[in-house]
Amino acid sequence: MSNEIRVAVIGAGMAGKAHAAAFRSASTLYSPVLPPIKLVSIADMNPEFGSLAARRFGYERTDTSWQAIAAADDIDVVSVVIANSLHRQAVEGLLAAGKHVLCEKPLSDTMEDARAMAELAANAPGIARVGFTFRRTPGIAYIRDLIRNGVLGNVLHFSGRYWTDYGFDPAAPMSWRYKGSAGSGALADVGSHLTYVSEFLCGDITAVSGGRLSTAIKERPLPLGAVMGHDHVAVSDTFEAVENDDYAAFSAEFANGGSGGFEVSRVAAGHANSLIFEVFCANGSARFDQRRPSEIQLFLNQGDSAQNGYRQVILGPEHPYLSGGLPMDAPSVGFGQNEAFSYQARAFLEEVAGVPEADSLPRCATFDEGVRNMEILDAVTASAQANGKLITL
Ligand SMILES: NC(=O)c1ccc[n+]([C@@H]2O[C@H](COP(=O)([O-])OP(=O)(O)OC[C@H]3O[C@@H](n4cnc5c(N)ncnc54)[C@H](O)[C@@H]3O)[C@@H](O)[C@H]2O)c1
Repeated sequence: MSNEIRVAVIGAGMAGKAHAAAFRSASTLYSPVLPPIKLVSIADMNPEFGSLAARRFGYERTDTSWQAIAAADDIDVVSVVIANSLHRQAVEGLLAAGKHVLCEKPLSDTMEDARAMAELAANAPGIARVGFTFRRTPGIAYIRDLIRNGVLGNVLHFSGRYWTDYGFDPAAPMSWRYKGSAGSGALADVGSHLTYVSEFLCGDITAVSGGRLSTAIKERPLPLGAVMGHDHVAVSDTFEAVENDDYAAFSAEFANGGSGGFEVSRVAAGHANSLIFEVFCANGSARFDQRRPSEIQLFLNQGDSAQNGYRQVILGPEHPYLSGGLPMDAPSVGFGQNEAFSYQARAFLEEVAGVPEADSLPRCATFDEGVRNMEILDAVTASAQANGKLITL
């Protein structure tokens, strides 16, 4: 590797642009300990998407395949931000070529592929990590701190939902998100985030039950052009079947004795991106809502009960990630999900650069953790297929 870190992003879609911007901003955060970050290429099979993103985020060139990135000897670090079913082939090709790989969640769309990827990663020269972005969300990281340092204490009950509405309109075009086996829909797409966050806060899930998967809209029109993310484009009169879940729900048991209730959806009209949870703990509770990412709600069971109750805590430089993690790191300036991608990119680049863990942001999740996350989702699907049966992990 040169004394620079040379970066590429595969996929210039909804999340690919967030990765592209994050590599650009990563070295502007905190102390300047990273070597120069060179933004080399954005690869997308859609040349228009790729070249627009490259120009917008300042990458030197575009490519149109992951193979071109794997073959390039001027690239060290690659984000894989394409459909879940394509992760394995790209990641395997990149790791075989000696690249460091940050792969989007979920690790893959099948357990078999995910396990093969983890096995390869364990023996690869490059670093392989998964992007569970919400662990970088300051409010979520702070609630975790409050649980672990005993202010909130042991979690008794987690209640979480990730409601989205990108699919509630029957005219929303068919895309890769609607294809795949049971559990590869909303459960994999946003349930992967929610289950990861629940374990991040509450510790290991030991069993799931009450699994339920349903498809509210059974077929969708084919788009007449390329679809990016959840965009609506002109559609044809030809419809194809939706193969996977619009909605999923389940209960979980945690190793610490706590219980959890989970619900995810892509047809929750009016909720474009509502990751919302509440954790009820030994000494109080906390609530997070992604629509208001610069605050948490906190209830501490202290003082006069007649005056007690939930209060709003505005997040700022006293909370995780924010001191030095914003250009203007003053109280109440506000921030959002895009910053979480920057913190993630920073953590990954610090690991690649050899910054010691103690001096770095928390490391990104390993491929083994990506497999673990998928095992939970797989158990939910098994529970749903067995009429809600309890499945132990
Ligand atoms: N962490 C998060 O918050 C978050 C948010 C959204 C999506 N994601 C994840 O990111 C990944 C991509 O999702 P998205 O919403 O950005 O998808 P998207 O459909 O918006 O973009 C995917 C892009 O990949 C391109 N592509 C397809 N095949 C390709 C290939 N072989 N080589 C190069 N490019 C190719 C497509 O042209 C498209 O532009 C998924 O794994 C998804 O789960 C994560």
